[in-house]
Parts: sequence; C-alpha cells; structure tokens
Amino acid sequence: MTQIVDLIQSVRLSEDGERLIILDQTLLPVKKVYNELQTPQEVWDAIVQLKVRGAPAIGIAAAYGVYLGAKHSDANTTAELLSAFLDSKTYLASSRPTAVNLFWALDRMEGRFKEIIGAGASIEEIIDALKDEAESIRLEDEHICEAIGEHALTLLEPGSGILTHCNAGTIATAKYGTALAPIYLGQQKGYQFKVYADETRPLLQGARLTAWELSEANIDVTLICDNMASIVMSEGKIQSVLVGCDRVAANGDTANKIGTSGVAILSAHYGIPFYVCAPLSTIDFETKNGKDIIIEERSAEEITSKWYTEPMAPKGVKTYNPAFDVTDHTLITAIITEKGIYKPSDLHQLNKQ
Ligand code: MRU
Repeated sequence: MTQIVDLIQSVRLSEDGERLIILDQTLLPVKKVYNELQTPQEVWDAIVQLKVRGAPAIGIAAAYGVYLGAKHSDANTTAELLSAFLDSKTYLASSRPTAVNLFWALDRMEGRFKEIIGAGASIEEIIDALKDEAESIRLEDEHICEAIGEHALTLLEPGSGILTHCNAGTIATAKYGTALAPIYLGQQKGYQFKVYADETRPLLQGARLTAWELSEANIDVTLICDNMASIVMSEGKIQSVLVGCDRVAANGDTANKIGTSGVAILSAHYGIPFYVCAPLSTIDFETKNGKDIIIEERSAEEITSKWYTEPMAPKGVKTYNPAFDVTDHTLITAIITEKGIYKPSDLHQLNKQ
C-alpha cells in the first residue's frame, strides 16, 4: 500500500482554544500563509474574501466563529451570552448565501447552545460545549469525507482519467475533500488516476488550489482552461467527472461553482458519468429544486481585473458575475454521500434516515 503524503488541513483551532487558524487560500499557490482569527468579524471577513472557502470549510469556520464570539464576549449572564451568540450567528450567516453548510453548522451550534442552557449550564460550561461542538463538526467532516471517498472509489477504474471543476479538495473541507477524496484514497491503493483540473474562472480555484494540492500530494494532475473540457473528453482522456457541491435541492438539482453545469452538459454529450460528491450537510431537503437556490453574485472586479490590479476589460464595461450555477438533476449520474451512492431521484430515501 502506497502511503499518501500528509494532507494539508486548512481550518483548525489553536491549542489554547483562543484562535481559529486558517490557511489563506487567496495567496495559494505562491505563499502558504496561516491567519489567526479571534472574532466573528474576522471570521466573516475571511469567508467573504475566500481566504477560507469550500462549502464544508465555510461551515466549520463559522462554527468556530460563533464559539470564539461567545468565548470573548463580556456577557455577565447566560441570557446575555445567548443574545450575543444569536447576533454573531446572524452576522456570520450573512457572509455567503449559497453553500448550505454555513447555515447547517450555525443551526447546529445554536441547537447545542439551547440544549445546554436549558439544562442550567453556567457561562463557562456553555463556552466549553460550543468549543466541543465546533470540534465535533470538524472531526466528523473528516470521517464523512473519507466515507465519500470510499464509496466513490467503487465507481472508478484504476488508472482512469477524472475531470474535476473548482476545488472540492482537502483544503475545502476538514480533510480529504469530497470530490478529491477518492483520488487520495485511490493513491493509497496504487490506483494512479490521471486527474484533469479545470482552471475555473474567474478566481481560478482549479488552477491555484486543485492543481496545487494534488501536485503537493504527488498525484498526476493536468491543468486545462475551462474551455478545453470538451476536447479532452472527445479525445477519450476522461472516464468520469467528479465535482463537489454547495447545495443539493430535494430533487437532486445541484449548485456548485460557476461552470459546473456546462461540464455536466458536455459529459452527457460524450456519455461520461457525472458524479456529485455531497456530504449530507450539503443536501437541503427544504429547498425543492434548483430554482429556489440563492446564487451569490460577486464583484465586477473579479472578472474585469486580474486580482483586482491589472485591467483585463474596458473600464466601466457591464458585467455579470454569478459565483455558482445549478446542474439539472437529469444530468447527474449519481450523488455520492457518506451513506452511499444515490440517483438524484432516490435522494428522498436519505431524508427518512
Ligand atoms: O466559491 P468557492 O471557492 O467557495 O466555491 C467552492 C465550490 O464550488 C466547491 O466545489 C464546493 O464548495 C464543494 S467543496 C467540498
């Protein structure tokens, strides 16, 4: 069995529980810099600026954010602490609208707070419980990603070509990633996949992050521009497509990084299976279909200038910059969760578990 290199962890709590330590993903692949965050405001800024990004990692960071808000609060009573907690929860929930993991993690933290306050806990006990809950969310995500990877691996042939879009890797989660988990687990078994990473305009998560983290792990990765997916598929280089997701609606329609639905349409044309890797925390049974998913729109500068400095378009040109799109459930071969592999039409079975 080949030993995989230590996977990079992008979000964790400091040893003394005082600060959230995140890998600043905006500086990759040039610099590996860790930021230490102490307040909900700092966590909010890091999420908005995409220093921490990827649906599961955003949820984990927000969970630590409300814990840190409570820890550093000057509340004198548990009622005051709850009020301060709810303020930071609402604030963190306003950071990004599409990835449902953010709201899922914040609701879970509130549930824990209310459970323990109801049991008559002190301020210190509540803060300890919030810390433990945030740590559990992170640790569980690691196991969930590993399970997604094991299930996905059963669908992949050793040595085959895999196309991925955006970054659903170890740095977008607690560890392993979702779409990249089977690639890391396959490496341990000597599967030697050939990965093609779409660069993923406009912010280049595929080029800067996926190509980087796979190279760091000595995995065979080839970077292509987004408009090259069709040619690599037509040349027979791709046997499956694996992507992550930010929100899966009850009918299986899936929001993921802008450009994903185009890749799914191409996959259908070439008869290539298109798999979405989704922890249960990303499946939103409250949202009936993709039309109800709020799509984040980001600033014009992301598409008119290179990293907000060099212009790439005429000054004042009209722009439209949706950060995500929705892939219709009919284009998705299967949704791979920690509980197993489901056709989009069978997702309701998970809701009953
Ligand atoms: O805007 P980003 O970089 O946060 O978008 C990330 C994606 O679209 C990922 O594919 C998704 O969050 C899944 S991460 C396991």
